[in-house]
Amino acid sequence: MTRLLLTGCAGFIGYHLVSHLLEHTDWEIVGLERLDEAASLAKLGEFTRSGRFQFVWHDLRATVRPDAVGCQKLRREFDYVVHLAAGSHVDRSVRDPLGFIADNVIGTGNLLEFVRHHTPEAKVIAFGTDEIFGSAPHGVTFRPHDRANPMNPYAATKAGADALAVAYAHTYGLRMVVTRCGNVFGPMQHPEKFVPIAIDRVRRGELVPIHAVAGVPCSRLYLYVENAASAILHILRHGTTLDGTEENGRYNITGNEEVSNVELVEKIGGLLGVTPRFQLVENPPGRLRPDLRYSISGEELRRIGWDPAIGFDDGLARTVEAQCAGSPP
Ligand SMILES: NC(=O)c1ccc[n+]([C@@H]2O[C@H](COP(=O)([O-])OP(=O)(O)OC[C@H]3O[C@@H](n4cnc5c(N)ncnc54)[C@H](O)[C@@H]3O)[C@@H](O)[C@H]2O)c1
Repeated sequence: MTRLLLTGCAGFIGYHLVSHLLEHTDWEIVGLERLDEAASLAKLGEFTRSGRFQFVWHDLRATVRPDAVGCQKLRREFDYVVHLAAGSHVDRSVRDPLGFIADNVIGTGNLLEFVRHHTPEAKVIAFGTDEIFGSAPHGVTFRPHDRANPMNPYAATKAGADALAVAYAHTYGLRMVVTRCGNVFGPMQHPEKFVPIAIDRVRRGELVPIHAVAGVPCSRLYLYVENAASAILHILRHGTTLDGTEENGRYNITGNEEVSNVELVEKIGGLLGVTPRFQLVENPPGRLRPDLRYSISGEELRRIGWDPAIGFDDGLARTVEAQCAGSPP
């Protein structure tokens, strides 16, 4: 049976990816997690009942040892590895950059060492972010092989993780794919992220702070989480691996619409039948300035036959509905 190792399985994208894989494949999934405040134990219970999901409790800041107690599920080789585990919130990385270096750089190093020594034939996805490219000037859209230019500690540690993945592929011959994904949103996202905060505040009639630079609100290429999960499965099945050329082994994963955060909040208001209140914030607490705009091209992924199946408006409607059903205002 095909076996997949997924790190960060109890986080936001991890949860949706496991659900997607259980529904669309017959693979056996081993989820590795340290279960921090971004993770949810309740989510894991659901998966273990499927009989095809097993869990390993491990913090990637430490070496992965398949011979350790509780790690026996790591002793057989894997066909695929998807590395999602990371500190993922920019504001938290601003407060705790060293914590992010430990999770995202050292953590990735430990995962790659595990792959190198214990499952070197696996096809690996190092799951990165469009934030590594920094803010995209108006009219610029980054391609997967463009140079990283990270502007906050989160983005810098993710760029470091990508660089390690590329270096391991070239040095040790690992079968590696590096992906950079736009802003993902959807049901069950951690409440510290912008979309859940905005939904919560709009329905309570509270002011939504929106980051802006010189009066222009930030914009993002938002991607509904189920699209992110289907893109990962598509890349596992059809994606090329790094081979030293610019053509192979790198994919951007992106939605088709660039949305400003003011538009996003207005759309949430429309879905909830209220007029939202928002305020542009030029200097968010604790940092100089946010990245105004992220923009990446999904051309390489389209060429291997993937496009997001769920549009932004549809995804947002599903997200608002799920969040409102999950907790009364
Ligand atoms: N959410 C987005 O918009 C987005 C966009 C692009 C890329 N990404 C990347 O996708 C991945 C998942 O993002 P998410 O939104 O699901 O984040 P999340 O914070 O919801 O989940 C991350 C998970 O990783 C686990 N984790 C963190 N450090 C760990 C460690 N040292 N050892 C073991 N487990 C650890 C956490 O417990 C958590 O469950 C991250 O790599 C993130 O950088 C996210």
